[in-house]
Amino acid sequence: MVSGLKIRAWSRRSDLRRGRGCSIVGQAYRRLRRRRALWRRGLKSSQCRRSALTSTRHGDKAEAMSDVPADVLTRVLGRADRAPSVHGTKPWWWQSTATGVELYVRPERQLSVTDPSGRDLTISCGAALYSLEVAAAVEGWRARIRRVPDPGLRSLLARVGFEPHEVTAGDRDRAELLLVRRIDRRTGPSSPLPESSVNEAALLARERGVLAVAAGPRGRGEEVLGLLAEAARVQELDPGYRGELEHRRQLRRPIDPGDTDATWLVLATASDDRLCWLRTGEALQAVWLWATAHGLSLVPHSQAIEVPSARATLQDELLQDTSCPQLLLRLGWAPVDDPRPTRTSRSDPP
Ligand SMILES: Cc1cc2nc3c(=O)[nH]c(=O)nc-3n(C[C@H](O)[C@H](O)[C@H](O)COP(=O)(O)O)c2cc1C
Repeated sequence: MVSGLKIRAWSRRSDLRRGRGCSIVGQAYRRLRRRRALWRRGLKSSQCRRSALTSTRHGDKAEAMSDVPADVLTRVLGRADRAPSVHGTKPWWWQSTATGVELYVRPERQLSVTDPSGRDLTISCGAALYSLEVAAAVEGWRARIRRVPDPGLRSLLARVGFEPHEVTAGDRDRAELLLVRRIDRRTGPSSPLPESSVNEAALLARERGVLAVAAGPRGRGEEVLGLLAEAARVQELDPGYRGELEHRRQLRRPIDPGDTDATWLVLATASDDRLCWLRTGEALQAVWLWATAHGLSLVPHSQAIEVPSARATLQDELLQDTSCPQLLLRLGWAPVDDPRPTRTSRSDPP
């Protein structure tokens, strides 16, 4: 059973009790029409089976059913749930609907001192959203995403519909990377990444509407390390932070002042709201999968954003106040000799 997946099973009887259902004949007719439409689109009979996951009714009108079979949706959400999250909190859950799935945030998993605005929380959900898109593509479904659709319902972050899609080799590779990707906080061989790699990463972020600004190693790496060390010191001095992060210290990469050859990327957006945070999470996961494919280690460093003074310095000095910093990423060569660390993700907060 996929964690966080809430299934609202379709119940003809309860619909009838509530006076919502139409006649049984009407339902059968609609079912037949839907099957015919699927056959016309060349889908297999197994794909025509009505899915208990996707047959929720809304209001009085029967909405278009999502065509994704239940077992496929379960696989897709299972892969999406392997997305990275701040301190491994996995602060999201999925709701199946008549037309697809909805992504919701779990506010109870917010680290209220470290992340009072919910930025890290929403970025994590964005990473899950991108993972869903990748996981659906390899199953033959293109995700159609509407982000942050309802300002009145703050825990709803996105509505996703699906349409049939032809699977490519690229889809298969990316889906495999979802399973392989994990945080690796060790330092690898020290030599800067070529500029072409940095540009590739930046392009992936830009496709999600997010800027990736390089901050080193040439020239600014030491500044970034200084900023991170200062942010860590500020957090250590605050009893609120200390209390919240006490059991999570091992989930933060310690700052190594000698780590001057790493490449630093600041993910930044035009404004500073939930939509931008969600998109930053999508960009993060897109760049992380790309890094994994290229044998690179990627470590997010959120301390520089969590501490207001460090964030202001990043915004004013590195970004010249042209955009809002959302996350700092360290990119470097992954160590090749030692075994990789085991996955630290968890479904429940520590
Ligand atoms: C928004 C966000 C912020 C993060 N901040 C940090 C960080 O400051 N330091 C760090 O070492 N890891 C950071 N991480 C990585 C998580 O700790 C890591 O993804 C999590 O422990 C789950 O492990 P996994 O990526 O192997 O699944 C961050 C991840 C996200 C999504």
